[in-house]
Amino acid sequence: MFDEMWGAIEHLGRDDRTRGYLRDAWSPADLELREWFRQEAARRGLDLREDRNGNLWAWWGDPSARPGVVTGSHLDSVRQGGAFDGPLGVVSAFAALDELAAKGFEPARPLGVACFTDEEGARFGVPCMGSRLLTGVLDPDRARGLTDDGGDSMAEVLRRAGRDPGALGRDDETLGHVGVFVELHVEQGRGLVHEGAPVGVAGTIWPHGRWRFDFRGRADHAGTTRLEDRDDPMLPFARTVLRARELAERGGVVATFGKLRVSPGNANAVPGLVSAWLDARGGDEAAVRALVAELTAFSGAEVAGESWTPAVCFDAVLRDRLALVAARALARRTAAPGAADGAVTPVPVLATGAGHDAGILAAAGVPSAMVFVRNPTGISHSPEEHAEASDCHRGVAALAAVLEDLCQS
Ligand code: GLV
Ligand code: MN
Ligand code: MN
Ligand code: MN
Repeated sequence: MFDEMWGAIEHLGRDDRTRGYLRDAWSPADLELREWFRQEAARRGLDLREDRNGNLWAWWGDPSARPGVVTGSHLDSVRQGGAFDGPLGVVSAFAALDELAAKGFEPARPLGVACFTDEEGARFGVPCMGSRLLTGVLDPDRARGLTDDGGDSMAEVLRRAGRDPGALGRDDETLGHVGVFVELHVEQGRGLVHEGAPVGVAGTIWPHGRWRFDFRGRADHAGTTRLEDRDDPMLPFARTVLRARELAERGGVVATFGKLRVSPGNANAVPGLVSAWLDARGGDEAAVRALVAELTAFSGAEVAGESWTPAVCFDAVLRDRLALVAARALARRTAAPGAADGAVTPVPVLATGAGHDAGILAAAGVPSAMVFVRNPTGISHSPEEHAEASDCHRGVAALAAVLEDLCQS
């Protein structure tokens, strides 16, 4: 089933020239993926719900009766992203439910598959939009007013997609259905490669944020304006990029300018405005904030914070339980038939610098955990992101075992 589902969505939103994915929230590709999710839910007789913030939930059992165990991830991508970041967790979620159903397992509590809306924030700038709105850490007025690169507000985009932007906001009823959340995700580094393990679990997520730097100057002719007469905002921007690198080289924090808007954007004009987005992350919140403060002062730009995610430390009891259950499931797959269950070592626990909806839910007090699947190159947010099919299947087996364990009583 995993391979069949993977094959059904692999082409959606793929740029055939680069092999990268363009799955912005609410784009035609995203809408097709959401429709695919609905069909997968229907095919299994799951109860499909879309919440006020556009997150999708497919339930086996009724979560109004008792909070359930939820697994899933997201289907949107960064621009020119890989196939696995997000969809691997959703496809594996359905595949894990299939494994449980095939062996006749009856969950003692409701079991759900979730698809969070706009996890990457590629379109409107704020990552984990669906889970931030759901948990109330993002003001719905601010969300409605965010604009995409074409100048369309999120409110307009939602209206066009047939959704009610007035409905956005904290949703205690939906949140109350989630007793535990487990997100499976491709690893976005080489931690599991170093450990020689196909599957691991998350320990912590680094605190991280995004800031917009506006460098203002004066647009002018590129040929006729003498150097001394120019007010070129590209120069302080360039110095700021180099300074960010120097500050990061002190260690502990990574800083990236990955998105740039140059206005008016003529090859033959000195620009009038350079807007650049800084992403900064590290193990220590104070160090991240200190780097951003120092860079802000150095740049001379107007700087606005776009999003901030505090450090996440996943529930240690849940994490350790998952690490052991996953290890046992993997050991059973390789054991000779009939072999006794020997002692197994829990799968590795990894810290990550990548943000996830599981982190937002954890911060909101929902017991949450993550299962990582090995990425042989560690490359992510790139068309080269990869996971071997055999590791994806191991991930499904580990996830199924974890869900079975959590749904025993
Ligand atoms: C999202 O994947 C992020 O960590 O930026
Ligand atoms: Mn991502
Ligand atoms: Mn992701
Ligand atoms: Mn992410």
